[in-house]
Amino acid sequence: MADVAVIGAQWGDEGNGKIVDWLSARADVVVRFQGGHNAGHTLVIDGAVYKLSLLPSGVVRGGKLSVIGSGVVVDPFALIAEIARVESQGVKVTPDNLAVAENATLILPLHQELDQMRETSNSGVRIGTTKRGIGPAYEDRAGRRALRVVDLLKPEELPAKVENILVHHNALRRGFGLAEADAGALVAALREIAPKVAPFAKPVWRVLDEARKAGKRILFEGAQGVLLDVDHGTYPYVTSSNTVAGHAATGSGLGPRAVGYVLGIVKAYTTRVGEGPFPTELTDAIGERLGERGHEFGVVTGRKRRCGWFDAALVRQSLKVAGVDGIALTKLDVLDGFEELKVGVGYRIDGEVYDYLPAGVGLGAGIEPVYETMEGWSGSTARARSWAELPAEAVKYVRRLEELIETPVALVSTSPEREDVILMKDPFQD
Ligand code: IMP
Repeated sequence: MADVAVIGAQWGDEGNGKIVDWLSARADVVVRFQGGHNAGHTLVIDGAVYKLSLLPSGVVRGGKLSVIGSGVVVDPFALIAEIARVESQGVKVTPDNLAVAENATLILPLHQELDQMRETSNSGVRIGTTKRGIGPAYEDRAGRRALRVVDLLKPEELPAKVENILVHHNALRRGFGLAEADAGALVAALREIAPKVAPFAKPVWRVLDEARKAGKRILFEGAQGVLLDVDHGTYPYVTSSNTVAGHAATGSGLGPRAVGYVLGIVKAYTTRVGEGPFPTELTDAIGERLGERGHEFGVVTGRKRRCGWFDAALVRQSLKVAGVDGIALTKLDVLDGFEELKVGVGYRIDGEVYDYLPAGVGLGAGIEPVYETMEGWSGSTARARSWAELPAEAVKYVRRLEELIETPVALVSTSPEREDVILMKDPFQD
């Protein structure tokens, strides 16, 4: 039996919520291994809509264990608020169905302030972050001054830990012209939230090891997408964690053989929120139409997403660096009714043709996508559950993408409803 990692293979927002929910119904344990409450996953279960940011998708289903791994950055205030929100929708969250890694890094209010300040200042590169403090928290983890979940279990040690992190942050804040952070207020806030978080804190590596030994099915739930990976994405316009499947092991405390099958979620066109290069972006009426038909607004920030044609060169690259075994193709129905469709197959950069996106390309100046044009379809792909229900041109489009990205399609999702799926391979079956 294969444990499965599911990751976004573009710039996030590939329609992960539905696929992760579909998979988590088949899993016993659902693990988040990177990112934080910058993620936004919308789940629709029996007509009820759940919007999750930090909690693993398994939490809204009875009988599953949800795990927040050590690779996640945890804002304890956001965590408790999100638990309260889903509880108000009738979901029970207890230490029996949620475990949070005691060695996960904490996001503090000062991280959020720093993120906001950088994003709104006129100097430095503007990334277009979610302003949740994700980047500054990962910086402190690498800088070995971060507070971690375990620190909430030892309230008497908090003043010294806070003082240590403020040595760095107050110097930074002074430099940026911000008021120094108030150590006493931060300690008091952490002491207040600590007893609410403490019951969930566990040695997660051990919980997962035991689950594996007991033959439980584990689903590793990625957030964001490969093109936002801090190493392999469109740096510096990326998030601050590794979003590739390889990080499922590190970010949860399991070895490299923890994942048996990697499912990459791929949208039938491309979107991006925030700044950064996007070679196949459409700033015309076609882009508008994709955005409207696809309801392309961010779950976390409500920002309008940038839209463009499918970029096969970039997706192929993503699937390779993330070691994807098969893809789930989503939102094919958004392309219904287009007379013709374009697919990016490479780039012309300074007169040279590339079949991949070289590192270090800037904000689009001088990058010209190379397209292949395909016939569109007039029929509907919405709600199809077999290939036979798709227009012939839609099948051709999917088959051509499959060739270009050198990876098989495991399933096609044809509506937001969980059952509207054309299934070729169940990722949990060997
Ligand atoms: P950060 O993760 O808040 O630091 O934001 C860095 C970049 O990642 C920005 O371009 C964000 O728009 C993008 N980003 C972060 N989380 C998500 C997500 O869940 N979906 C799509 N983009 C995201």
